[in-house]
Amino acid sequence: MSARDGGRERYVPVFTADSARRKELDDVLSRYPTKMAALLPALWMIQHEHGWVSEDGMAEVAQVLELTPAYVKGVVTFYTMYHQHPVGTHFIQVCTTSPCNVCGAEAVVDAFLKHTGCQELGQTSPDGKYTVIEVECLGACGFATPIMINEDFIESVTPETVPDVLAGLK
Ligand code: FES
Repeated sequence: MSARDGGRERYVPVFTADSARRKELDDVLSRYPTKMAALLPALWMIQHEHGWVSEDGMAEVAQVLELTPAYVKGVVTFYTMYHQHPVGTHFIQVCTTSPCNVCGAEAVVDAFLKHTGCQELGQTSPDGKYTVIEVECLGACGFATPIMINEDFIESVTPETVPDVLAGLK
């Protein structure tokens, strides 16, 4: 969540005193001997609240966990599951690695781009609802084409079933 400030997005802190996320983070911290150990869950909380991890989000995490912003950024840029820019409400990942590719994954990608209005891979649709990317093997090679939409896993997607998949999204 963020607020507008003169047309510019103003960062809204996540771990404010007495907030639910602060309590959640404190619970995580109580299980580990160092604050650094809570870095990955803290970044997930930022991403769940804002949809991505901005420089401001990294700075907030660095401050609450007493780490340097450079260290936090190094972790965010290492893991591809942290979004370093805003993405659509529905983040669609399509496996296009060889076994899925020979079974038609590229056509599934094309169908998602067509039906979401995304101009190209990695770009968010004009309505802000969708971002489509290609990913490496999702571990379901016998069920081409597998996709992930946010944290939901769907197997055996075809170009013909893409409209139904999208219609089923809340
Ligand atoms: Fe697509 Fe393994 S190659 S899930």
